[in-house]
Formats: sequence, structure tokens, C-alpha cells
Amino acid sequence: MLILVTGGAGYIGSHAVVELMLAGYDVVVLDNLSNSHGETLQNIGRIVGQEVVFTHGDVRDESLLTALFEQYSFDAVMHFAGLKAVGESVSQPLRYYENNVAGSLTLLRVMDKFNVRQFVFSSSATVYGNPAVVPVPESSPISTTNPYGASKAMVEGILRDLSHSDPEWRIAILRYFNPVGAHPSGLIGEHANGVPNNLMPYIAQVAAGQREYLSVFGSDYATVDGTGVRDYIHVVDLVIGHLRALEFIGQSKGILTCNLGTGQGYSVLQMLKAFELATGHKVPYRLVDRRPGDVDSYYADPAYAEEVLGWRAERSIVQMCQDSWRWQQVLIH
Ligand code: NAD
Ligand code: WQD
Repeated sequence: MLILVTGGAGYIGSHAVVELMLAGYDVVVLDNLSNSHGETLQNIGRIVGQEVVFTHGDVRDESLLTALFEQYSFDAVMHFAGLKAVGESVSQPLRYYENNVAGSLTLLRVMDKFNVRQFVFSSSATVYGNPAVVPVPESSPISTTNPYGASKAMVEGILRDLSHSDPEWRIAILRYFNPVGAHPSGLIGEHANGVPNNLMPYIAQVAAGQREYLSVFGSDYATVDGTGVRDYIHVVDLVIGHLRALEFIGQSKGILTCNLGTGQGYSVLQMLKAFELATGHKVPYRLVDRRPGDVDSYYADPAYAEEVLGWRAERSIVQMCQDSWRWQQVLIH
């Protein structure tokens, strides 16, 4: 089977390409390298022992996509390409809607034209907004609080309409909780630009001495120790969930919407302690005000993923921390 992986040079896409190739799929990567590096593709090649087929281009470029679909007979598309920084989406909404919504529309239009109707989409638990119930089931109402989240909810809506209009489509909408960690080889991981927004890369930079301390955003939440609780999932577990979803849609037409999380919540301080234990490095911290827009606690109800995909996350918090730390050391050198 030949799979087009958009955003395959990025953090999650690169890990997906590794697992796809190791599982025997043929893969073509399309990426504009706006938030990634060409050397990632070489490193994927080193992990899997085979060169990665790569096209440098943009999912919004319809003529480039048309040429690509003329050149290759794709069986399915995994669509990771997009922009993902919540804060940036508030200051640059048009850029976010353009990349995430218009990019997806262009891709779907070309797929339809070439009768390629298997699609795996990177959505986000952010579509649940401030969920009323935790663990969060897929039936939770959609309520977004920023343009990034809205762009994911819009594409989800487009995919539902598309599936209703033409039952030949086979679509998996995967809602990720908090992906962390890196490939255990130390060859690929997340390239955070500038000051990291996310907890795990920030902790890793503090442990490495690149930053003085972690600011813990909020210590008066209604949680185990007052700090925010999230569902951190190892990126390798996450992408294995994509392979299961690809197999699932190969067997069933229609649309599948599924959480990808562990079902286990950890607080900021629990993560920090786990990182210290797993790596032997101290992570100094200071308790500061809440970050606007944050919710106190959310983690997945992973039951549906297990039921329909036979998948559940297996990697521990220790592995998440050790793999993040290994990658952090590679980034420094
Ligand atoms: P990333 O930025 O590391 O990877 C995205 C890749 O897409 C990058 O290589 C980038 O260069 C490429 N890209 C962006 N716009 C493009 C375009 N218009 N055309 C072609 N390539 C383009 O991000 P990631 O963390 O790997 O996220 C992958 C997907 O998963 C995104 O859609 C993101 O919204 C979604 N997601 C991520 C998280 C997370 O916390 N990392 C959580 C939920 C959902
Ligand atoms: C986790 C916890 C913070 C940094 C974001 C996006 C979401 C999804 C995943 C794409 C929270 C606390 C953080 C720091 C801290 N991305 N924290 N100090 O906010 O759950 O989710 O990434 O789809 O859409 O919103 O992840 O890693 O930023 O924060 O105390 O320096 O760590 O307050 O409790 P978040 P995060």
C-alpha cells in the first residue's frame, strides 16, 4: 500500500513515517518544511534502513498535488501538515485557517478527483474546549476557544459532511491528547522553535541548564496538587494508533472519530518529579499565575479506541521522560 504522508518531516508525522515503513507500507512525504528540517528525512532513513521518498511542497498548492497524484497511485493519505501553536493562531488567525482549513480542503478535493478516499486526520483534544466530564469521551460537545482549535473543528465538520455526501469515503478523525517523547533511537523528535510553549520541552530545557527554572502555571486548580492535569501520550504510541486506524478504515467505509490518549492524567508537578527521577536531573521551578485559557484537568476516555482499534497506549511516563531527555541532549549537540 502506498501512503501519502503530509507533514511527514514534522514531529508526529516523522514518527508515523518510521512506523509505516517498518510495517512494510510504501510512503511518500509531502512537507513544505515550514516547521521542520530536511535532515529529519535522512534520520528516518537511518532508522528504517531505507531512503524516504520526499516532495518539498505545500498542501495548498493544487497543481503540485495534482502532479503528485498523477505520478503516484496513492491508496491513502495521512494528513499531519498544519500549524499548531495556539497563541500564534490568536494573533494570526487567517494564516491558521488558510493552512489548516484551506490546506485540508485542497488536499481533499484532489484526493476526490483521483478517487483516493482513505483519509487519516490529525485532530486534537482541543476541540473539546473546557470539557464538562473527565475522562473525556468522544461524545463530548465540541467547543473551541481559539482559531487553532476552531480550524480543527471546521475540518472535522467538513469530513463529516464529505462522508455523508459520499459513502465511499473512509475517514479516521484522531483526537490527540498531549503528545510527548521522541523516538528511542534519539534520531528524531520535536524541533521546538524559540521558547517552548509546551510543558515537556520546557522541562527538558530547564534540566539541560538552558533555562533557569520552569514556571508552573497555576497552583490552585482543583487537582491532586493544585497544578494542571493532562493526558501525556508517547509519540510512538500515538502513531501506532494511526496504523490501527488505517487498518480499520481499510475494512470499513464511513467515518471514525477516536480519542488517542492514555486515559491517565498527570499534574505538572507529577511530570516534573517523574522527569527528575527518570533522568537524574533537577528541574527547578516556581509557582506562578495561571496561564489564560488553561483548564484544570483533562484526560481521555480511551475505551472507544481500544474497542474499535484494539489499540491502547503502552509506553510509561518514565519512557516519555527518558526519550524526551535523550532527544534534548541531541538537540544541544
Ligand atoms: P509539526 O509542526 O512538527 O509538523 C507539521 C509539519 O507540517 C511540519 O513539518 C511542517 O513543515 C508541515 N507543514 C505545515 N504546513 C504545511 C503546508 N501548508 N504544506 C505542507 N507542509 C506543511 O507539528 P506536529 O506536532 O507534528 O503536529 C502534526 C499534526 O498534529 C498537526 O496537524 C497538529 O495540529 C496536530 N496535533 C498536534 C499536537 C501536538 O501537541 N503536537 C496535538 C494535537 C494535534
Ligand atoms: C500542559 C500543562 C500548563 C508550560 C496544548 C494545546 C493543545 C495541544 C497540546 C495541539 C498545562 C502547564 C505548561 C509551562 C506549565 N496541541 N505548563 N508551564 O496546554 O494542555 O495543550 O498542546 O493540538 O491544543 O493547547 O499543553 O504542554 O502547553 O501544558 O505549567 O511552561 O503544563 O499550564 O497545565 P496544553 P502544554
